[in-house]
Amino acid sequence: MRKTLVAGNWKLNASIQDTEKLINGVLAGLDGVSAEVAVCPPFPYLAQAQQLLAGSSVRLGAQNVSDQESGAYTGEVSAAMLKEFGCYYVIVGHSERRSLYAEDDAFVARKFAAARQQGLAPILCVGETLEEREQGVTEKVVARQLDAVIEVEGAAALADGVIAYEPVWAIGTGMTATREQAQEVHAFIRQRIAGHDAAVAEKVQILYGGSVKPDNAAELFAEADIDGGLIGGASLKAEDFLGICSAGR
Ligand code: 13P
Repeated sequence: MRKTLVAGNWKLNASIQDTEKLINGVLAGLDGVSAEVAVCPPFPYLAQAQQLLAGSSVRLGAQNVSDQESGAYTGEVSAAMLKEFGCYYVIVGHSERRSLYAEDDAFVARKFAAARQQGLAPILCVGETLEEREQGVTEKVVARQLDAVIEVEGAAALADGVIAYEPVWAIGTGMTATREQAQEVHAFIRQRIAGHDAAVAEKVQILYGGSVKPDNAAELFAEADIDGGLIGGASLKAEDFLGICSAGR
């Protein structure tokens, strides 16, 4: 049985004070939570988060990583640096980075590789826009995003990370995919991986992301191929985030 993973993607939200309050709030409410829990603050707060989380079961993640190891790449942060600050996960290919910062499939695949090379677990985000869903090309888009990583790293590499299905139209809109809509795409992703390697497909956690809240998490996580959530807005309040974590198994 795959464990549920609930990861908070704070996006561009935090301060030193917020980080302390939020992390301490999460740590104080973990009793009875059986899901795996992770938080992904912005880069400047990773050191603070690392200290606050020391000795706890909550894992630390970053929201982005350079595809390069070192050198003249102004503004970039390498996987080795993230490792040094205690990161376990790093999000790659979030739709906001794909659409606002022009990250294409090949670039995302290089980031996935860079993370893995340093022993970080990449959280690979895939998902279609509303237009693509309406055109009926959801599976085609998700397959393309997934295949780009498989081509570079091989399907077995997916077992070192996590996949997050995040329909772009559900992110930050309050328009959650229905459990059926989400399960359908999750099953498709798992089948596609199984086409390469059945053992990897069985093992890999596939998270759902897009307007997950305490009141819809349980029904989503109950689906056969939904192994948790990547949480944006609701990860910024300890109470809400914990409510979602409690829905996991
Ligand atoms: P929301 O939970 O705010 O919709 O964001 C989802 C997301 O993008 C997580 O990466």
